[in-house]
Amino acid sequence: MTDITALERDLSERIAASGDDAALEAVRVAALGKKGQVSELLKSLGGMSPDERKMQGPAINGLRDRVTTAIAEKKQALADADLQRRLETERVDVTLPAVPFPFDPGAGRIHPVSQVTDELIAIFADMGFGVAEGPDIERDDYNFTKLNIPPEHPARQMHDTFYLNGNAGDGARAVLRTHTSPVQIRTMLTQKPPIRIIVPGRTYRSDSDQTHTPMFHQVEGLVIDETTHMGHLKWTLEEFCKAFFEVPQVKMRFRASHFPFTEPSAEVDIQCDRSGDTVKFGEGNDWLEILGCGMVHPKVIANCGLDPEKYQGFAFGCGIDRLAMLKYGLPDLRAFFDSDLRWLKHYGFSVLEQPSLAMGLTR
Ligand code: PHE
Repeated sequence: MTDITALERDLSERIAASGDDAALEAVRVAALGKKGQVSELLKSLGGMSPDERKMQGPAINGLRDRVTTAIAEKKQALADADLQRRLETERVDVTLPAVPFPFDPGAGRIHPVSQVTDELIAIFADMGFGVAEGPDIERDDYNFTKLNIPPEHPARQMHDTFYLNGNAGDGARAVLRTHTSPVQIRTMLTQKPPIRIIVPGRTYRSDSDQTHTPMFHQVEGLVIDETTHMGHLKWTLEEFCKAFFEVPQVKMRFRASHFPFTEPSAEVDIQCDRSGDTVKFGEGNDWLEILGCGMVHPKVIANCGLDPEKYQGFAFGCGIDRLAMLKYGLPDLRAFFDSDLRWLKHYGFSVLEQPSLAMGLTR
């Protein structure tokens, strides 16, 4: 007759000494498996006299229960210890400074267009502008008609529009938007003034050479309220240019121009120096055109269901790719969209440096 106390002590020691799941499983099989020591004891109950069974039954069953519990507890303890070990070894100290680029020469870079877009958003957000968006596939009435460009207007040809088959709802023709200005319409149709938004996004025109690609990027600005005038427009654009080109002063020139959706309209040039290898802003004798702007045409305001006697404001539109070329000295626009990794590594920006006015736009 096996000594139950001695067996229990032996099993307890072996359970305690099990260093991993495999060792513990071996003890379990040796004790509770089909031919295990405890199982054999249980089987022996069948051959005992009733009196003997009355004595041994509770003792052996009690042993089985305690061994089962001890194994389960040990299993849990092993799992806890394992988790603890992993938490220790895989710990990340989030208070450490970010690893500066290049932590991995193959790591991703931020495309100059995305970088400049983030910069624009940081600058205009600081002036109280929100960011609005619209679809690339636009209704022709939002892209043109409601912007005071009627169907036979020559400006439709000038925009080299990509027309799509099918309609964009209510019989409107679908076009790839030729500018971000339709988001002016979308915003005025759905929001009550005061409105103060910028709209960065993709735009499309059938045009391709060193400074034009069929897809390019614009940022639109729109302010509508009851008192905004041309002086606010000039101040806003001046503050923007100083912040964007990171210079204390910029000289700007507002040249009278024409857009169907603004009256009066102007094109804005900034003074620069192109005598060296790179363009310098805020000095020099050259002028560079950077954007179109004006006071929103009363007809456009009325087309959106707002009262032009009550509301007025300004709008501007600016090529983002062109801004990126100017600020970062990128010579060929087409390379922007070649997806050449060598180009991106050279001209791209670190993923860890978010432009902000407080920390600087580029570091
Ligand atoms: N949408 C015009 C363009 O693409 C730019 C513009 C926007 C001009 C807003 C005036 C006001 O050329």
